[in-house]
Amino acid sequence: MKKRILVVSSANMDMVMNINTVPSAGETVIENGSYAYVPGGKGANSAVAISRLGAECTFLTRVGNDANANSLLELYKKEEIDISYIKKDDNAPTGLATIFVEKNGQNRIIVFAGANQKIDRETVSEALNDAPDALYMQFEINHDAILHAANEAYKKGIPVFIDAGPADKTFPLEKLPRLEIFSPNETETLGFTGIAPTDDDACMRACLELQKRIDAKYIVIKLGSKGAYVFDGEKGEMFPSYEIKAVDTTAAGDAFTAALTLKYLQCQDIALSCKFANCAGALTVSRHGASSSIPSLDETQAFFEKVIM
Ligand code: RIB
Repeated sequence: MKKRILVVSSANMDMVMNINTVPSAGETVIENGSYAYVPGGKGANSAVAISRLGAECTFLTRVGNDANANSLLELYKKEEIDISYIKKDDNAPTGLATIFVEKNGQNRIIVFAGANQKIDRETVSEALNDAPDALYMQFEINHDAILHAANEAYKKGIPVFIDAGPADKTFPLEKLPRLEIFSPNETETLGFTGIAPTDDDACMRACLELQKRIDAKYIVIKLGSKGAYVFDGEKGEMFPSYEIKAVDTTAAGDAFTAALTLKYLQCQDIALSCKFANCAGALTVSRHGASSSIPSLDETQAFFEKVIM
């Protein structure tokens, strides 16, 4: 039977600019690169990944009453995502992200959260009453909604998975209940612990620091092109990434944690799940855009079989 995952997180329209040079303060740069509006938002990217990787996904977010919202909702319907808990807000615009993608595929992102900040407790409680197999969240929405969702899910026995993006040092980690997986990237790890996870030893120290603030069965630090580090409360293990030509790293972390969550729910094997998630992340960086770059189950499975042989 298909797993049912409730994603309570963000939806944005991304304005992606493929550029040669990031301007300095006061400088105007004329670019010969390209730009496009593409659906994004950490929550939406993960919801698309969960659906493409073969689970049933309910996406709870809030959008504005505007043209961007209409295009995003069209995409979610096409991706077979359940949108019955997405509300339109008359007083805040749909979230917008400006993404600069440099030639090496690295990105810099500025997010205007807009309606994402208006997710309310009542809608979250209603969605949790549908008894999903898991709750999946990130930090791109209001703290109150995240804490309410996590604590209510925990009380109902629904496992909670958190991708700690974007880095928000003000988030009160201590108020979260027991989590199944907590997954920050390098910047978020540095933000929460003051430790840059540059090697195995630093990853272990960062996990021990995080453990003082959160109760998670697994902490999985996403290390970009280096792979991921998994800590089970006692031991840590590095899972190197798989080689692929990176053109745009946008949404790779979202695809990674979504794939990790789904695979882990299916097999309860963190090592296997991490390898599968590394495949989903690698395929995502090999393409341009946010949700547009997320691979299907068949593509991910084929890549997985090739790399683990
Ligand atoms: O993780 C990538 C996402 O971060 C982008 O799609 C952008 O909308 C921001 O939320």
